[in-house]
Formats: sequence, C-alpha cells, structure tokens
Amino acid sequence: EATLRERAEARGIEFGAALSAAPLREDSNYWNTARTEFTSVTTSSELKMGPLRPSPKTYDFSDADAIVDFGNEYDMAVRGHTLVWHTQKPDWFQEWDYSGDQVRDFLRDHVRTVAGRYGTRIDAWDVVNEAVHEDGSMRESVWYEGMGPEYVEKAFEWAAEVTDSDLFYNDYDIPTEPEKADAVYDLLADFRDRGVPVDGIGLQLHGIGSQADPADVADTVRRFRDLGLDVHVTELDVAYEVGSVPDDPLAAQAEYYRALVEACVDAGVDSITTWGVNDGNSWVRDFYKAEERFTIDPLLFDRKCDPKPAYHAVKAAL
Ligand code: XIL
Repeated sequence: EATLRERAEARGIEFGAALSAAPLREDSNYWNTARTEFTSVTTSSELKMGPLRPSPKTYDFSDADAIVDFGNEYDMAVRGHTLVWHTQKPDWFQEWDYSGDQVRDFLRDHVRTVAGRYGTRIDAWDVVNEAVHEDGSMRESVWYEGMGPEYVEKAFEWAAEVTDSDLFYNDYDIPTEPEKADAVYDLLADFRDRGVPVDGIGLQLHGIGSQADPADVADTVRRFRDLGLDVHVTELDVAYEVGSVPDDPLAAQAEYYRALVEACVDAGVDSITTWGVNDGNSWVRDFYKAEERFTIDPLLFDRKCDPKPAYHAVKAAL
C-alpha cells in the first residue's frame, strides 16, 4: 500500500509535519516515520528567537540545522517557523530603549542573519506569526511597541533582501473569527497593493476543543487566493474536549481530517502540515496542561508511531 508521502506526491500536494530536534536525534521510529510518510518538515520551536539566541551576540543553530538538514537530505520541502513572534523570546531579552532605533536595529539584524543564513535551504518562511488579535486590532508586543504596525512589512522587506524563499504571514483562528479575518485580509491586500513582498498566508488550524467547519476554511482559502497569495495549512491538530466528545472519537477525528483535507485541497491549498509527527510529541497536552480536558490525542500517528484511523482517512482524501 502507498505511504502518505507517496499519495501526496502523486497528488502534487505537500503534506508535512512539524518536527522537534530531540526525538529526531533520539527516536529512530520517529525519524523513520517523518522520512517515509511526509513530504515536508517545519521547525516546531528551533528557529524561534528564544531557542536560537542563548545570549545577545550568539546564535545556536544546531537544533534548527538538524531539522533543515534532514528535510534537505530527504528531498522534503522545508518551512521555517518563525522569524518574528511576540513570545518565545530569549530570557535575557527585556531592557529596550523604545525611543530610539534599538528595537528596529535588533529585529533587522535578526531577520537578515537568520533568513540569510539558510537562503533557499528553507523553501518557505513564516516571517511574522500571530500579529493580529481576535478583534482585529494589532497585538501588543515588543516589536509593535518599538516600531508601530510597520514592523510587519519591514520584516517581510528585510527577509526579501536576503532570501528567495516564499514569505508567509501565519496566524490562528482566521476561518472562525470574522473580525480577525478581515483585519488580516486588509493587511495583506494592502501589502499586495504596495508591493510589500508577501507570497502567502499560513492558516494554523489548531482544533483543540473545537474544530473549524471545513466549508468555512475553504471559503477562507479562496478569499486569500483571490489576492494572489498561496495558502498553506501550517499547524493542524484535532483534539476533543471532555463534554463535547463524539461517540467514537477516533472515527470522528478521522472523518474531520478527511473532510478538512478534501475541502482544503479542492479550494487550492498546496501544503498541509500537522503540528507534530505522532501523539507522543504533540504540544497539546503539555501546553494546555490538560490530561483531563482532551479525550484523544491530535495527530495521525499514535505514541508508538502506529497509524491511526485519521492517517488512513487523510490518505483516502488525497
Ligand atoms: C508551540 C510548540 O509546539 C511548543 O513546543 C512550544 O512550547 C510553544 O509553541 N502556534 C504556533 C507555534 O505558531 O509556534 C506553537 O508551537 C503552537 C501555537
């Protein structure tokens, strides 16, 4: 039987997973599943500013390189996540002079150094992650404070100076929060009008407790494609919350994955990424500290890397 990777390649769709450096080094089952079942890899946290920058003047690229090298070695597409975000910043990062150019100089240097180092070894970058709130306002952050809303377009311009990779804006809840969707749409439409170098939008689609309706996701995809943007599904996972658990959760999870992948591909998505390879490495339970709250783990492979019903459903959808 064909693997997911073979199905995705035959269909001309990237189907990837976010990887973490530790299990990639230590767990041969994980390594092997990533290589044989996926066509694309994303760094989970290894390229975020915090993990990358142990001190103000040093970078540690070793964990990020482990993932990028793996993707390059096995002919997978590589997504870099992420150059600019409000969180997971370094511990030493606190004192800033907001009145001068300190924030701007720091961010310009960071974007140029990191994006420039990888060049086209990274195919697509999440240049800016999560800059807009659910109500459509800009999120406050050190970047916003220091540079105003202009920090977003500057990050794209600085990245474009040093790399030919595709440059993405990435965010969550866009298909389910209309005010946020409109604000992000206006931001990117304005960038297209003014020639700010943005190539695509990443839809995170974490379904943790509630899942976006696939029809709404498809509408969102078409709307942004009409701006001339590529649309990637960048951070997919599917977990149910106690109290709203379907009768047969594994079957419901599989059916949701199937319907979502089908709707996205029909609407023109050309890359879909699950946020992790297997349930043992998912961020959901750790991050939400929720052993009680979620009934099934979110990914296509279980803790032993055995395929779940959702895996077969995704293959059937491709
Ligand atoms: C998560 C990682 O998976 C965790 O390991 C980390 O502790 C927190 O961040 N949206 C994003 C990702 O854009 O960067 C987040 O990744 C998950 C939510």
